[in-house]
Amino acid sequence: MTTGPGVGPLDDSFVWPGSVDSRAVGYIEGDLGGANRRDVEAWRALRILPRVLRDVTRVSTEWQHDGLTFASPILVAPWASQTFVHPEGEKATSHGAASAGVPFVLSSNSATRVVDLPADGAPFWSQLYVPPRREDILPYLKASQDAGALGFVVTVDAPTVPVDFSFRSPIRDIAPPSVNFRDGVMPAVAADLSVADFAWIHEVTGLPVLAKGVLAAEDAAMLVEAGVDGIIVSNHGGRQLGAVVTTSSVLASVAGAVAGRAPVWVDGGIRSGEDVFRALALGASAVLVGRPAARALVEGASGVEAVLDELRVQLHTAMTMAGAATLADISRSHLAS
Ligand code: FNR
Repeated sequence: MTTGPGVGPLDDSFVWPGSVDSRAVGYIEGDLGGANRRDVEAWRALRILPRVLRDVTRVSTEWQHDGLTFASPILVAPWASQTFVHPEGEKATSHGAASAGVPFVLSSNSATRVVDLPADGAPFWSQLYVPPRREDILPYLKASQDAGALGFVVTVDAPTVPVDFSFRSPIRDIAPPSVNFRDGVMPAVAADLSVADFAWIHEVTGLPVLAKGVLAAEDAAMLVEAGVDGIIVSNHGGRQLGAVVTTSSVLASVAGAVAGRAPVWVDGGIRSGEDVFRALALGASAVLVGRPAARALVEGASGVEAVLDELRVQLHTAMTMAGAATLADISRSHLAS
């Protein structure tokens, strides 16, 4: 591992400034069994097969979703307690994403209440964990709806929190006052989550509901058949199960099972515009970034904007070099088999 000045937020050798508590850094960078590192390496190992003689006079990274147009298909992933990194926390993330022209996903364990998100911030989805007593989530659903959330992202890969793992425990002492993180412990999560919960959230709110943390094609097919509005292929950034598969290795099979019936997004180890290109070639329509956005937040909103812009520009270059003028032009034929 190399360290040193000039290592930016897309680099896993990023050097955190002393202003961020080392326990928070340990929490943010926490990686069970090197699962996140394997994700990073697996994307990098996928070779792009450039296609030539395609008209790339005008290349556009624009992403259309649900009638909205964004500058790129790159979202900030939901990550908890952002005031660990910057006093403006989620507000700065929202402003940074807005300046970069992309949306973000608000963590239900955010340090900022959904009602306190800036009115001039970016469009967002509200992430949530379904609690054992379903009605406990109703105020959050209502507040999110009132604040203009585009929809909900239900995280399905955390029926329990591996609290015994060392990187999470130290933050109990430093957790900022937060919506759900007030006592420094995660709220309980339902261990009996089912497709009925998705239908219920959709019924209560009338908004789209996506499932985050799907890795098996059969699970994706079951969710889509039950009417879920989107699948996010994710292993929670390697923070739940050390031996978990890489997201890049299962993405194509999940996308195949979904077969265009719902959008498929992916996260975990995305560190460059070429990684975004690889993800789209394997069937994703958008990607999310967690740790790069967390590191960028050291610089506040402008840092978040800069890292999202950098990824967009890198994606633009990859598309131009590989012969894809629009996101729709990126296909499996752009990857070496
Ligand atoms: C997360 N992640 C996460 N996911 C979620 O659904 N709800 C949450 O509250 C959190 N909290 C959280 C905190 C921190 C510090 C990190 C780093 C991550 C997981 C996150 O949404 C995403 O799946 C991963 O971060 C993607 O991997 P990369 O981009 O960090 O490699």
